[in-house]
Amino acid sequence: MVNKSKRAIVTGGSRGIGRAIVKELAARNCSGILFSDIVFVDNSCDECVEEIQKEVDNLGTKIYGFKADASSFADAQATIDEAIKNMGGVDILVNNAGITRDNLLLRMSEKEFDDVININLKSVFNYTKAVLRPMIQQKYGRIINIASVVGIIGNAGQANYSASKAGVIGFTKSTAREVASRGITVNAVAPGFIETHMTAKLNDKQREALLNNIPLNRLGTPEDVAKVVGFLSSDEAAYITGQVIAVDGGMTM
Ligand SMILES: NC(=O)c1ccc[n+]([C@@H]2O[C@H](COP(=O)([O-])OP(=O)(O)OC[C@H]3O[C@@H](n4cnc5c(N)ncnc54)[C@H](O)[C@@H]3O)[C@@H](O)[C@H]2O)c1
Repeated sequence: MVNKSKRAIVTGGSRGIGRAIVKELAARNCSGILFSDIVFVDNSCDECVEEIQKEVDNLGTKIYGFKADASSFADAQATIDEAIKNMGGVDILVNNAGITRDNLLLRMSEKEFDDVININLKSVFNYTKAVLRPMIQQKYGRIINIASVVGIIGNAGQANYSASKAGVIGFTKSTAREVASRGITVNAVAPGFIETHMTAKLNDKQREALLNNIPLNRLGTPEDVAKVVGFLSSDEAAYITGQVIAVDGGMTM
């Protein structure tokens, strides 16, 4: 019998990997899930909450949407306050929001560097710091940060992105050490190349070159990543902390 008592926050949950994570947590262990996203700020997805609610209706999970820019500390604090107001607490935080602004370093602008660091790395600081006190008080928490294999192996044209994701990995390990004694685990999932908006820009030649480096010979799906996040969010993963789990078809073995 599944114990559906957990309450989760997923940043950037309106599409792609974040949306698959919302659905996986609903199927697994969550009675309530709040997803924060920039799409409510720029009004590009007015129907998101209703759409996702419909997708999980048969699972008995209540979905909340919240307007927030993950790179803003004030927005992160407001998200946690809203989650506690609606759901009574937060047991699981998934830091998923992220962007790419690819360019060779010679051509990369300061803005391209700063935007990626702020949205991919500072956001993880913002949300983790804001959720830590309530998690410490309840002596329970699961924090899962979405990194990337390029934070481990690097990638030409992604100095900003790989720096942000390497930063997420360092942050994950340090925070895991700080809060382990409080019943909180902190882990990272490092996806390889996953079929989402983020990788939709790849042309056939780039795709073929990529596949040559993926032993399982396919790009991943958002669900491939979400399954691992679901496991790390569960009580079955109680003895795992400070780890980086690659979900990459064998790219980085
Ligand atoms: N797709 C891949 O191949 C891949 C590989 C490795 C890691 N990742 C990581 O997985 C995560 C999800 O990526 P995805 O592929 O689903 O991308 P996506 O572009 O489909 O989704 C990203 C989500 O983040 C939201 N977002 C963007 N900026 C935001 C901001 N400032 N504040 C709040 N929300 C914001 C977007 O609205 C969107 O919902 C990212 O952290 C990404 O770096 C993706």
